[in-house]
Amino acid sequence: MKILVVGGAGYIGAHMALCLTREGHEVVVCDNLSTGHRQALRYGKFYQCAVGDRAGLDAIFSAERIDAVMHFAASSIVAHSVTDPLSYYRNNVVNTVTLLDAMYAHGIHKLVFSSTAAVYGEPQQDIIDESHPLNPINPYGHSKAMAEQLIRDCTSAYGLRAVVLRYFNAAGADESGDIGESHHPETHLIPRLLKRAQGEALDVCIFGGDYPTVDGTCVRDYVHVNDLAHAHLKALHYLDATPGFSVFNLGGGVGYTVKQIVAAAEQVSGRRLNIDIAPRRAGDPARLVASNRSAREHLQWQPQTVSIEQIIASAWKWHQTPRY
Ligand code: UFG
Repeated sequence: MKILVVGGAGYIGAHMALCLTREGHEVVVCDNLSTGHRQALRYGKFYQCAVGDRAGLDAIFSAERIDAVMHFAASSIVAHSVTDPLSYYRNNVVNTVTLLDAMYAHGIHKLVFSSTAAVYGEPQQDIIDESHPLNPINPYGHSKAMAEQLIRDCTSAYGLRAVVLRYFNAAGADESGDIGESHHPETHLIPRLLKRAQGEALDVCIFGGDYPTVDGTCVRDYVHVNDLAHAHLKALHYLDATPGFSVFNLGGGVGYTVKQIVAAAEQVSGRRLNIDIAPRRAGDPARLVASNRSAREHLQWQPQTVSIEQIIASAWKWHQTPRY
C-alpha cells in the first residue's frame, strides 16, 4: 500500500515511516518541519507541506495514489497548550478538518489517527479502558478529543474508515540508531534523564513526591515507539475489514513510578543521577495506565519490548550518537 504519513519527520511519525518501509509499503511523508527533523526523513518520498495547507495537500493527493493516511502531525506539549490554546485548536482541530476535507475530495477513505491518554483527564479507575469517560483537563487533551469527534462524525457521514489510537507514554528508539526522540525543548522524563546522564547541564527533578502511589511519584505506562508503529500497521489491516470508527488504547498495561524510571535510567546508563523531588507539575494525573485488552483482541497487537530497562536502553543507544 502507499501510505501518507502526515508528521513523518517527528518522533513517532519517523518510526512509522521506517516500520512501513521495512514491511514493504510505499511511504510518502508530509511535514512542515516546524518541530520535525529534516535528518529524520530517511524513508519514503518527502513533501514539505503543512497539514493545514489545503493546496499543498491537494497537490500531494493528485500526484500520489494514496491508499491510506496516518496523521501524526500535532502540537503536544500540555503546558504550552494552557498558555497558547488557540494554536493547539488551530493545529490539532482546524488543520485536521482541512486534512479530512482534502481526503474526502480525493476519495481517500482510510485514516489512522494519533490520539492520547490526555483525552481521559483525571482517571476514575486504575486501569483505563476505552470506555472511560473523556474528561480532558487541558487544551491539548480537549483538542485531541475534538479531533476524535470530528473524525467519528466523518465516518458516519462520508464513509470514512478510521482507527483512533490513544497513546500512553511513547519511549525508546529504533535499534538502527538512525532515528530517535529529540524535542526542543525536551520535556519528557526519559530523554531528560538520559541527557543528564550524559553530563548535559539539565536541571532535572521529580515533579511531586506526594502522590497517592507506591512511592509518592507519578505512575505512567511506557510503550516502545516501534511497538506503537506496529500497532498502526495492524490498524491499517483492521481498516480493510472494518468500516466506521474504532478506538484503541496503546500502552503496555504496566505502570512505573517516576522514581522507578530514574532507577532504571541509572542502571542502564551506569551513572548516578541524584535527582531531587520538586513540587508537582500542573496537570499531571497521579496514574495513567492503559488497558490494552481491546488492541490485543481486535488488532492482534502485543507490545514486544516490555522490559522498561530494554526500552530505556534503546533510547540510551540513540542518545550516544543522536543524528539530530
Ligand atoms: N517528569 C518529571 N520530571 C521531568 C519530566 C517529567 O518528574 O523532568 C514526570 C512527569 O511529572 C510525569 C512523568 O514524569 O509524571 C512523565 O512525564 P512526561 O512529560 O515524560 O510524559 P507525560 O506523562 O506528561 O505525557 C504523556 C504524553 C502526553 C500526554 C500526557 C497525558 O507524552 O502526550 O501523557 O497526561 F498528553
